[in-house]
Amino acid sequence: MKDLIIGAFQLLNPNGTVGSSWRAPGNTSLGYLSIAHWTRLAKQLEAGGFDFLFFADSYGYPTIGDEVIPTSLTDAMYVPMGDPITLVSALAAATERLGFVVTSSTTVEKPAAVARRYGTLDHFTEGRIGWNIVTGAAQASAAELFGETMMKHDARYAQAEDHVSICLKLWEGSWADDALKEDKQGEVYADPAGVRMIAHEGEYLKAKGIYNLPPSKQRSPLLLQAGTSVAGREFAARYAEVVFLGGSEPAQIAEQIADIRSRARARGRSRDAVKFVVGAHFLAAATAAEAEQKRDEMLALATLEQAATTYAWVTGIDLTRFALDEPVPDLHTEQGQTSVDRFMDPETSRRKTVRQVLEEYRANGLNGTMFVGDAETIAAEVAAFVETTDADGFLVQPHLTPGTYDDFIEFVAPALRARGLMGSGRPGETLRARLFPSTGDRLPADHPGAAHRFAPVPVD
Ligand SMILES: Cc1cc2nc3c(=O)[nH]c(=O)nc-3n(C[C@H](O)[C@H](O)[C@H](O)COP(=O)(O)O)c2cc1C
Repeated sequence: MKDLIIGAFQLLNPNGTVGSSWRAPGNTSLGYLSIAHWTRLAKQLEAGGFDFLFFADSYGYPTIGDEVIPTSLTDAMYVPMGDPITLVSALAAATERLGFVVTSSTTVEKPAAVARRYGTLDHFTEGRIGWNIVTGAAQASAAELFGETMMKHDARYAQAEDHVSICLKLWEGSWADDALKEDKQGEVYADPAGVRMIAHEGEYLKAKGIYNLPPSKQRSPLLLQAGTSVAGREFAARYAEVVFLGGSEPAQIAEQIADIRSRARARGRSRDAVKFVVGAHFLAAATAAEAEQKRDEMLALATLEQAATTYAWVTGIDLTRFALDEPVPDLHTEQGQTSVDRFMDPETSRRKTVRQVLEEYRANGLNGTMFVGDAETIAAEVAAFVETTDADGFLVQPHLTPGTYDDFIEFVAPALRARGLMGSGRPGETLRARLFPSTGDRLPADHPGAAHRFAPVPVD
């Protein structure tokens, strides 16, 4: 029986992940610009047995051509969006065990800045930080905002290799474990022989220099990844310790998991080196009828227009251009390919229609799977889902904050615990040690980051 990893999905935005749930009675998400809103949530999640709070993020927003899609403003869809990394210190101070996973794009950010930012947070959180590595949703608007030409999809992943290599070299390779002396009497703060420059000469990015911080508990933050295009899978197989997946078809998720596991093994990583966490909605209540009523209330605030905005945000494609009841035509994007590939059954006759794709996004939001019912029904469905897909956990996506988490903690968690699917707490201090007890605080030996570890220069 798996002890499932449970994370909470959030954006620094007033909305939830389906429709206009910000308008729903009882939703406190309009408080997203108040630190108290988030410390309350973090404490609730920690007490409720969640492993981490995850913040999705992007500099991009929904556009078609040069226009911001108006629905994104009227309905608060991915607009506005604050910078979640700024919250982490405050949330760490309010909690003791909860992990924090924050997205940062390898396309937008510079690696040495990312390494220092997450490295500082690994100190402040005492090893509770994780980095969700993405090449980025909504890349067209993000690139324009930064005055750049949008890089092509696979080039972005090639650049991500350079980006992550530089970060790993800085975290793992610049400081020896015993370089920090803090020796007042000996008058040595740090031993110069224990700190060395790293160098990277990649096709896209170069770096030379030291990591300007002593090592933290995890050294490298826990490394997570989202994006399951072919290039994304290869990248995940090499670097990810945890992969986030979306989608609503268990068979498709099972295929993605099996494929990435086998790609990781081909790269010499152990079978359990990568864990898979699936974005899902849980609409739970004391009775099935009440749970269905919650779903109906949620869907009453969700429109096909919003669904098209979500689709455009990740792919840059305006689905409303096509006839609603025709099969989705062949589409190609240089933005997020997972969302396009998901509906591209090679046999056009079996393809979903444009309306069905939009309905899927309307009902389930960006990241698919939905469990609706009383506690027992949901726990049984979760068990079956895990059996079919080999998933290792879930990201609980909010349609209401804190309502979604109130219900998960009251109804779903006890039923999962009763089935042995959720533990009563994990040992270990750091996020990595909790999720990978046999690995411990630092990257395992079969991760490419381990090859960069500081080794003293041999003396002839
Ligand atoms: C649960 C989950 C969370 C994600 N979070 C983000 C995010 O925070 N920022 C982002 O740009 N992309 C995020 N993505 C990935 C995008 O949907 C998109 O797939 C990716 O950025 C583009 O890569 P691809 O072409 O490999 O799909 C997430 C995906 C999933 C399933």
